Amino acid sequence: MNTATATTATPIESREHVMQRAKTESLISPRFYTTDFAAMDRMDMSPLRAEWEAMLAEYEGDNNHDHFTRDEEAFRREIRQLPPELHQEFLEFLITSITSEYSGCVLYNEIRKQVTNPDIKRLMTYLTRDESRHANFINHSLRDFGLGVDLANLKATKATTYFKPKYILYATYLSEKIGYARYITIFRQLERHPDKRFHPIFKWFERWCNDEFRHGESFALMMRAQPHLLRGANLLWVRFFLLAVYATMFVRDHTRPMLHQAMGLEPDDFDYRVFDITTEITKQVFPLSLDTDSPRFRAGLARLVACSEGFARGKARGGLMGRLAQAGHALVGAATFVQLYLHPVKRHALPAQIRVAPAW
Ligand SMILES: [Fe+2]
Ligand SMILES: [Fe+2]
Repeated sequence: MNTATATTATPIESREHVMQRAKTESLISPRFYTTDFAAMDRMDMSPLRAEWEAMLAEYEGDNNHDHFTRDEEAFRREIRQLPPELHQEFLEFLITSITSEYSGCVLYNEIRKQVTNPDIKRLMTYLTRDESRHANFINHSLRDFGLGVDLANLKATKATTYFKPKYILYATYLSEKIGYARYITIFRQLERHPDKRFHPIFKWFERWCNDEFRHGESFALMMRAQPHLLRGANLLWVRFFLLAVYATMFVRDHTRPMLHQAMGLEPDDFDYRVFDITTEITKQVFPLSLDTDSPRFRAGLARLVACSEGFARGKARGGLMGRLAQAGHALVGAATFVQLYLHPVKRHALPAQIRVAPAW
């Protein structure tokens, strides 16, 4: 397991460093995806016509059209000088976030261009609009530090991973919903403790995460319109993606302890709160959820973090001993992932009412 922790990696001081980080391919770094566009084109939304049209009308209304703008002077006034380690972790956070946002933008835009199915094309047009706003808004904050990302260059040079359409649905649905849960948890915390809001970008998170919530709703409808994706052997994939998304977030957050502590959040508490919210939401589509309260499950996640840290130490050490340490930690990490995968899950029936409100 490869990690880019703020403590062991070279500090981010130039736009080249930012680009390197954004292009990093590791188990926990955001990727760019492509898929089978013809299969996307065949997706039939007619079984849920009324819900689908209601959702598209919400996008059409575009309640966030005026949200992603800044009063430059007021914004800059609120940017604080941070201790160096926290500053680095915050930059890591911005880079991971812009890469994820832009990854969505690139994928949705590609689907939009390749399909003729009007339902999918319309949806992808709205999703591209939203994700491009999100990515550009983060880029403003990177530019404040002289570290803006050349997004066109990133698109041209970052590796792309192929995912079957059903994997795209599971993975993007989950990343939209967990994205909502993360942003709303941060927003609520800083709403209660404004003194801990060390950067003005967090003020934007509430209306921002409602976009992500709605994006997730779209993928929920797409999956519910094709019920075979949510039963039988496909549930093994659902289980895999749930664990992959949860474990990635857990390990990544634990490489940035200062960032969470600065907001008054312990990484464990924050992550388990985010899991609770995400699990509650995902009952709209998935008839199973991970038992994140189980002590055995939690011990497994903690072991993944330890493996990731051990791997990073081995990498920093180099040489034969370093490589052996890396291999050992990778092996234990993989075995732990399998144990977590086999941990019993909770089962529930799918609700008749599919849509959920962003009520957190
Ligand atoms: Fe987004
Ligand atoms: Fe999104």
